[in-house]
Amino acid sequence: MSILVTGGAGFIGANFILNWLKAGGDKVINLDKLTYAGNKMNLAHLPSESCELVVGDIGDDKLVRSLLMDHKPDCVVNFAAESHVDRSILGPADFINTNIVGTFNLLESVRWHLGQLEPAVAGRFRFLHVSTDEVYGSLGPDDHSFTEETAYAPNSPYSASKAASDHLVRAYFHTYHLPVLTTNCSNNYGPYQFPEKLIPLMILNALSGRELPVYGDGRQVRDWLHVEDHVRAIRLVLEKGEPGRVYNIGGRAEKPNMEVVTLICSLLDEMVFDPKIGPRLNLVKHVPDRPGHDRRYSIDPTRISKELGFEPKYDFASGLRQTVRWYLDNAEWVKNVQSGEYRRWIGRQYGAGTEENHE
Ligand code: NAD
Ligand code: DAU
Repeated sequence: MSILVTGGAGFIGANFILNWLKAGGDKVINLDKLTYAGNKMNLAHLPSESCELVVGDIGDDKLVRSLLMDHKPDCVVNFAAESHVDRSILGPADFINTNIVGTFNLLESVRWHLGQLEPAVAGRFRFLHVSTDEVYGSLGPDDHSFTEETAYAPNSPYSASKAASDHLVRAYFHTYHLPVLTTNCSNNYGPYQFPEKLIPLMILNALSGRELPVYGDGRQVRDWLHVEDHVRAIRLVLEKGEPGRVYNIGGRAEKPNMEVVTLICSLLDEMVFDPKIGPRLNLVKHVPDRPGHDRRYSIDPTRISKELGFEPKYDFASGLRQTVRWYLDNAEWVKNVQSGEYRRWIGRQYGAGTEENHE
């Protein structure tokens, strides 16, 4: 028995594999292209009998079909994606290729594969597509949270590409009866997140006394979920979810960005106060806003809670404290990811010169 995970060297995929194996799950085949966001170190300690890394592209149909034939997995869990909104604004092409064309290739390959299996075996197969709340667009302060019935209204090239992939997944259920499941989750944080995203970027900048670049007024709201809660929810959906059904995943933890940055600063001041830096909140710098910036996300997790019994274990305060501690305790991992491509990105996104101190 095995499962095929795509994008398992990235932030959520790696947390999923670690959690899956810890819970006694079957062998994992991890298909990952190892883009700048994929990191072999995240899983390097796992024996190859538990987790086998195959370096390749989800858009490579021959490779995907041979993996399905050779390993006959019971399910595919698709994490592989280009995932950073700011990168999608500067260069959307990779988002279209991986998120849309790549997902299409996975669906086609699975459809072909299931056609070769006994109907009873094919019936037990699951294709779980990991998606995002960003497909639902932006909420006003008093709007009801996103439910599974909320109309899609993506606003960035990233969210538009994820929305397109969700629609393909939906169509393969209705047209070909492919046993698919889709999850739409809110913002994740926790160990192994690449420091281009808000929380790890702010932790690492604040730690070394660099500016904290807050977009616009910093009052945009995100709904935060610890990554370990997200991956537990995905396991639940795999086990008990109904094919064709969509599950929103969230933990009812809406926070304005400035509140998140303020909490990070006070946690670091408490854990590692540095008199040369002083109170870290003074490092905040309001910078020009992200084009098309969504104002508020909020997930209504009623369905997954009522139907599958999902409840998060972390509240935001304890999850953030654990995350800050993890980045402090894993200096080697941090040093490794803050190399070539990371520094190029920081320079491009935040202006020439900003990358210089990121050693
Ligand atoms: P990530 O950017 O950290 O990791 C993506 C992984 O996919 C990397 O290992 C990368 O090498 C791999 N990859 C990229 N293109 C590939 C390709 N063509 N073929 C094979 N592998 C490829 O992303 P993440 O934050 O772990 O997100 C994983 C999934 O969860 C994405 O689909 C994302 O849309 C979704 N999601 C993320 C969040 C979040 O807050 N990070 C929230 C909700 C949903
Ligand atoms: O909602 C789920 C989504 O969450 C996922 O689908 C995406 O893959 C993931 O990247 C994340 O998207 P966001 O755009 O919400 O995350 P990001 O960490 O880039 O930004 C969070 C908020 O912080 C957002 O309002 C923009 C703001 N921000 C971000 C950065 C990097 C800043 O103010 N300054 C920054 O430097």
